Amino acid sequence: MDRQINSVEMEQRKGRRLVLFPLPLQGHINPMFDLANILHSRGFSITIIHTTFNSPNPSNYPHFTFRIISEDLPENNRCTKDLIAFVSMLNAICGLPFRDCLADLLSDTSEEPIACLISDAILYFTQDVANELKVPRMVLRTGAASSFCVFSSFPLLREKGYLPIQDSQLEEPIVELPPLRVKDLPVIHTDDPEDLYNVVVGMVEQSKASNGMIWNTFEELEGTSLATLHQKLGVPLFPIGPFHKCFAVTSSTTSSSLLTHDQSCISWLDKQDPKSVIYVSFGSLASISETQFLEIAWGLANSNQPFLWVVRPGLVHGSNWVEPLPNGFLETLGGKGHIVKWAPQQQVLAHPSVGAFWTHNGWNSTLESICEGVPMVCMPCFTDQKVNARYVSEVWGIGLQLEKGLERGEIEKTIKRLMVDKDGENIRERMLNLKEKSNLCLSESGSSKQALDSLVYHILSLESLTFHTH
Ligand code: UDX
Repeated sequence: MDRQINSVEMEQRKGRRLVLFPLPLQGHINPMFDLANILHSRGFSITIIHTTFNSPNPSNYPHFTFRIISEDLPENNRCTKDLIAFVSMLNAICGLPFRDCLADLLSDTSEEPIACLISDAILYFTQDVANELKVPRMVLRTGAASSFCVFSSFPLLREKGYLPIQDSQLEEPIVELPPLRVKDLPVIHTDDPEDLYNVVVGMVEQSKASNGMIWNTFEELEGTSLATLHQKLGVPLFPIGPFHKCFAVTSSTTSSSLLTHDQSCISWLDKQDPKSVIYVSFGSLASISETQFLEIAWGLANSNQPFLWVVRPGLVHGSNWVEPLPNGFLETLGGKGHIVKWAPQQQVLAHPSVGAFWTHNGWNSTLESICEGVPMVCMPCFTDQKVNARYVSEVWGIGLQLEKGLERGEIEKTIKRLMVDKDGENIRERMLNLKEKSNLCLSESGSSKQALDSLVYHILSLESLTFHTH
C-alpha cells in the first residue's frame, strides 16, 4: 500500500489541503494551531473543522479556512466539570455533523484535493468517519509519549490489579512501568470510572488504526518511550516538537488563546532581578479548594521570592477570583507578588527574571518550561499531568515534586530548595542541558526537523490511498 512516490509526483502534489480537527480545550487547541502553522509553512492549505463550543477566532488565522459543526452539546455538559463525561459525549454526538462536514469538503472541487485528516487523538470517533469516506487519517497526540505509554498499558494495568486505583496501594511501585507508583497513574475523577477506561482504550485503539501519529515532543527527550510506542502501536510516529518553538515568541503566536493575555505582567517582570521570580500557573482546567488556595498564597509569601501567579477565574472552588485572600495581602508584600487572570505564558517563561515555574505539568506547560530552561515545582492534578510530573522530577531530574500535599511550610521549603539552595544547582544545570537539546532538535540536521521532512513526505504518499484526487 505504501507505494514510494518520486520527486516529480511529489512536486505535483504540493499545495494539497489538510483538514485539522482539534479537541476544543485550550491545551489541545494551542498545539493543533501550531501544527497547522507548521504544515502551512511547508506548502499545505489548511482547513480547520471546529465545534461551536470553544470555537476559535478565524480572524486570527486569515491564512486558514474554517468550517463549524453544530455538535449540540447538552447545556449541562458544556462546562468541563467532568472532563471524561465531556469527552465521551463529544465522541458520541459529533459523528454525524462531522461526517457531513468532511463529506462536503471532499466533494468541493473548487478547493485543492484533500491529502488527509489530522484529528486530535482523543476524538477517536473520527477514524470510523475517515474509513467510511476513504480519507487517510493521521492523529495529533498533544500529550507526551511517556504518558501515552501508560495509557496504552491500561488493559495490562487493569489485569494486574493496579486499576481501578485503591487508596491503600498509592505508594506501591508499578514494576512494569518504572519509576511510576500507583499514585502517578493518569486517572481523573469521573462520575462513571468505566468511561475513563473506555475513552483511553478508544484513543489508543483508534490511534493504532490511523495512518500515523504526530507528537509535540522530541527524540532526545522521549526517545525510549517513542521506541516502545513504535513497537506497540505499529504505525509511523513523527516527533516534530516543540511546536511552539518553530515560530518566534510573540503575542500573535498565541492567538489561539481562549482568554485574553494580561500583558501587565511583562512590565512587572521587567522590574525584577534576573532569575528571581517564581511563575505559578495551573493551566486551563485544574481547580483547587479555598484552603489549598490560601496555603499556596502563604507558601509563596513566606518563600520571600517574588512571584507571578495566574489565578484563572474559576480556579478556586466557590469563588469568582481572589476573594478568599486576606485583605491587603498583596500590599503587605510590598510589590513582591503580582496576580493576573491569564498570562502570556510563553513570553513569561522566556523572560530573564523568571527562575522557576510552579506548574500542574500539563504537557504544554512542561514543554514550554523545558524550552526556556526553567526548572519546575510540580503539582500535578489529574491524568497525564501525574506521569509528566514524575518524569520531570525523577527521569529528567529538572524539578521537584510537592509530595506531601499543599502545606505552606512544605511549599516554602521546596521553592527555596529549587531557587536558592545549593541543592537546586544540579537541577538547574540539567535543565539548561535539556533546553540546549530542545533548540538543537529544530536545527537543519536536528531530529525534529528531519521528522518533519519525513512527515511531509508521508502525507504526500498517503494520497495514493485516497479516492479523492481531482
Ligand atoms: C490540559 C490537560 O489538563 C493536560 O493534562 C494535558 O496535558 C493538556 O490539556 P491544560 O490545563 O490546558 O492541559 O495545560 P497545558 O497543557 O499546560 O496547556 C495550557 C496552555 O495554556 C499552554 O500552552 C500555556 O502556554 C497556555 N497558558 C496557560 C497561557 O497562555 N496563559 C496562562 O496563564 C496559562
